[in-house]
Formats: sequence, structure tokens, C-alpha cells
Amino acid sequence: MTEDVQVSIADGVMRITMHRPAKKNALTGPMYDAMTAALQKADASDEIRAIMIEGSGGAFTAGNDLGDFLATATKGDEPRASYFIKQIAMSQTPIVAAVDGVAVGVGTTLLFHCDLVYATEAAKFRMPFLDLGLVPEAASSILAPARFGMAKASEYILLAEPFGPHEAEKLGLINGIVPPELLGETAMNAARKLAAKPAAALRAARRLMRGDRKDIEAAIGREMVAFGEALRSDDAKAAFTAFLSRAKG
Ligand code: COA
Repeated sequence: MTEDVQVSIADGVMRITMHRPAKKNALTGPMYDAMTAALQKADASDEIRAIMIEGSGGAFTAGNDLGDFLATATKGDEPRASYFIKQIAMSQTPIVAAVDGVAVGVGTTLLFHCDLVYATEAAKFRMPFLDLGLVPEAASSILAPARFGMAKASEYILLAEPFGPHEAEKLGLINGIVPPELLGETAMNAARKLAAKPAAALRAARRLMRGDRKDIEAAIGREMVAFGEALRSDDAKAAFTAFLSRAKG
């Protein structure tokens, strides 16, 4: 069991904290597994009615650990991220996210599957897949164009430009910008409010708002095929190695 993900439950809310601050909460296989298990537990529980997800140390998450990506690419294994992505995309439990600092890769794309998102002025969103020789994941290939419009989705996926919280609010990715000292409490209050709603109606309303999600499942399936191929490409391996040697240098 990793200590890099902390899970606590109170007042009907499961709080998931990505806690690897020295690495900007970059996600390793064990961290994905812990978060996948937490989401499964929430869906199976009558007591857990909402989830709150946050980072720590002034970062949401720097996305997939690039050392892990390189190891996965070399071994040809299925990335552990796949299981987490499928789980969060199909979650029955409403999710509130609190974003401070970097939200890179899956740190941005997981937000499409959250119901309420609060961020600080320091939030920095980026989907750098293309620059790493990769393709978008977590159904962002359809959800970004649907949420942002094709022009903005192309800017943030194909050009891989970073964007800040004001742009994220305009794009409809986040609900509001709050001071850092109020971020956790704002997100927890929203999650507690959700948890206090009639449980069956809340889950049904969320399901209705998100449709049957067959299109999302299909998009994730297509993306995973392309992602698996891209991950093993020379372009991707060179990008991971460049980052990892920069980190050591
Ligand atoms: N995988 C592995 N390690 C990572 C990481 C990642 N995705 N993101 C950050 N880290 C590590 C850095 O190597 C560094 O470790 P070190 O102190 O042992 O050298 C530490 O976390 C802090 O990161 P640093 O780059 O010094 O912080 P920064 O504030 O200057 O930049 C980022 C933060 C997130 C912009 C930058 O680290 C980055 O671009 N990371 C890669 C993001 C990425 O491509 N993710 C995959 C998306 S698919």
C-alpha cells in the first residue's frame, strides 16, 4: 500500500489526497492503484456519497510519473493509469476537485470527469501529450472539443499550450477561483453539500447529466490503442529520457 495517496472518510465524503509533494504528486503505478481502489470503494458504499480529490504541497499533480512511463514503454506493460481512467470515467459517485498549482496531463483530463472543480490563482493546466509523442487520454479527445469547442481544444491539445485558472473558468473546466487557504474547505463544503442530498436522486441526476457514457467508454478504448502505440514510439521514449536526464542534471 503506498503512502503517496491518502484516503479518509468523514460526513459521507471520501477525501483523496495525492501526496508525493517532492515530485509534484506525479502519479506512479501504486498511486493509480490506490486511487482506483478508493473510487471502487466509494461506488460500492452506501455511506460514501461524494468524493473530494486534491493534491498537496502546492501542486495538484504533474501527471503520470515519466520514469514509470519509460519503464512501461520498455516492458510493454499496460499503464496502470488505464485502470484509474476507466474507473473515474465510469464513477457513480459525484467528485469535487481542488486544484492548486500544476495540473498536468491526467491532472487536467481527470477534471472532465469531476462534477465541481475549484482552483487557486496558481493553478496551471496543461495537456502536454503531443510534446511527449503521446495522444490525449481519459476521453479528452472527445470531451475537450465538447467542453471547450474545437478551436480551443486544438490549442490546448494539439499545440499543448498551458492555461491558467481564468481561462479554465471561461472554458467551463472549473467552477471558481478561491484563495489557497480556502481551497480545501471550499471543495470539502461542496462535497458535504452533495453528500447531504438524497443519495439515490443525486446518483441518478449525475448519471442522467452524463448520459450512458458508452461514447466515453468507446473513446477511451480508441485512445488506449493509440496511446499504447505512442508510448512505445521512439519520440515518446526520447521525450521521457530528456525529462528524466534534465531532472537528474
Ligand atoms: N514524472 C516524474 N517526475 C516528475 C514529474 C513527472 N511527471 N513531474 C515532476 N517531477 C519531478 C521532477 O523531476 C523534480 O524531481 P527532482 O527534484 O528529484 O529533480 C520534482 O518533481 C519537481 O519538479 P520540477 O520540474 O523541479 O518542478 P517545476 O515547478 O519546475 O515544474 C512541472 C513542474 C510539472 C511543470 C515539470 O516538472 C514538468 O513538466 N513535469 C513533467 C510533466 C509531464 O510531462 N507529465 C506527464 C503528462 S502525460
